[in-house]
Amino acid sequence: REELKRHWFVGSIDQGTTSSRFLIFNGEGNPVASHQIEFENLYPESGWHEHEPLELLTSVEECIEGAMRKFADLGYSKADIRSIGITNQRETTVVWDSTTGEPLYNAVVWPDTRTKTLVRELKARGAADTLTELCGLPLSTYPSSVKLLWLIQNVDAVKQAYEEGRLAFGTVDSWLIYKLNGGHLAENPIHVTDSTNASRTMFMNLRTLKYDDKLLAFFGIDPNKIQLPRIVPSSDPDCFGKVATGALAGISIAGCLGDQSSALVGQGGFSPGQAKNTYGTGCFLLYNVGTEPVISKYGLLATVAYDFGGESKPVYALEGSVAVAGSGVKFLMSNLGFVAESSQITELAGSVKDSGGVVFVTAFSGLFAPYWIDDAKGTLFGITQHTSKGHIARATLEATCFQTRAILDAMEKDSNHKLESLAVDGGLSNSDLCMQTQADISGIPVDRPAMRETTALGAAIAAGLATGVWRRLADLKQVNRTGRTVFMPKMERPAAEKLFKKWGQAVEMSRGWVRD
Ligand code: G3P
Repeated sequence: REELKRHWFVGSIDQGTTSSRFLIFNGEGNPVASHQIEFENLYPESGWHEHEPLELLTSVEECIEGAMRKFADLGYSKADIRSIGITNQRETTVVWDSTTGEPLYNAVVWPDTRTKTLVRELKARGAADTLTELCGLPLSTYPSSVKLLWLIQNVDAVKQAYEEGRLAFGTVDSWLIYKLNGGHLAENPIHVTDSTNASRTMFMNLRTLKYDDKLLAFFGIDPNKIQLPRIVPSSDPDCFGKVATGALAGISIAGCLGDQSSALVGQGGFSPGQAKNTYGTGCFLLYNVGTEPVISKYGLLATVAYDFGGESKPVYALEGSVAVAGSGVKFLMSNLGFVAESSQITELAGSVKDSGGVVFVTAFSGLFAPYWIDDAKGTLFGITQHTSKGHIARATLEATCFQTRAILDAMEKDSNHKLESLAVDGGLSNSDLCMQTQADISGIPVDRPAMRETTALGAAIAAGLATGVWRRLADLKQVNRTGRTVFMPKMERPAAEKLFKKWGQAVEMSRGWVRD
């Protein structure tokens, strides 16, 4: 304890798609106390995916209280915490009434595909490529813009608030920061977002880091009628305010990063050419391209990697987003009853030597990068009398690995650079079988850190850099560097290529055969 006491601690709220967490890190970047709460994911109609905004907030507040109790048991108190950071599921869209602070609808979660028809109508206007040039994202059901537009068009309370100038919009970071600061009751309500989160809305110009009139006009959003969060850097001692109540009352919020940016920071991916792949609910590969954005020609996204403000320039990434990773395992568990705990899926998948010819295109939200097929549906191929649950479990893990491989191929074409190894983290990275499969299918080593709380660590780093826990990136050289496991490719290349080819055929067959 005395050893730890020499340092400041930094807290990190990690608000993800299936759970909220609060972790407290020491100056070496190791978590010393944490608390996690799962909340309800709502699927009110096929393709719809919602969260209750107030439940997200309470889950975060309860996590803070829970972790602070454990921190107190170690002999520490709030006075040992320098500041906190926030990292969050991105794109998920929250709307609230700025006069009451009350949500006007459930949060529309990032993989939700209710906007499929709307996206087709918008695409028919023919300016989609121009948008991508400005904001880095292809027009799809994924970004916040189309979710917000759907809410304004379809929910009376939202439409009315918009017409009356009471409509506040935000991604989950904005919502939490607003509420943690006391919401509409605060003396100066704080309504901000950082540029990594703003880069997922399709409203921000990737180069100026400001809202772009052309983008807003394309979606028919009148900036005079809606309260958009002010875009600020990811690391700042003043912009994000302070926690108003509870165990952390008075502590500064000093960092904010979308969860995938945060994982890149937590992996120490500060140099161009470094990349990480996070296997969470979905799976997201971010590749640091330096201080100039690279607009992809091969189905990847251009996004802000991190923006530490001050003298430093924002750093950009190429991103490959896979909609289904851990959620595929959850589907096998909750919908099909294959296992009781998600951690048992590896054992089930390991009960067979391969997928027995089964390919599972887990296109529950269409297919994201690099395919962008919005009418693809989850499709199982190659089933015979021989097929067992083990084969399907294995094919589910392989689906994420195949999509990662497709993203790596696209990234190589966009950047003219072949990754030498892939740094990984996130829930599914705990599965040795899944990581070995990834190495086999990609043909490059997969490198997994011992401390896999990289997403939460990234936001703690952003907050700690703003408040003097670490003064510069060089101070982080030793953070999260020890005890890495490397999975080397073992499969013969022709065998891996044959499997990947079969996956490609299955992707083609999953598209367009069911339209609604
Ligand atoms: O873009 C969505 C992403 O931020 C969600 O991350 O970890 O909940 O899969 P995760």
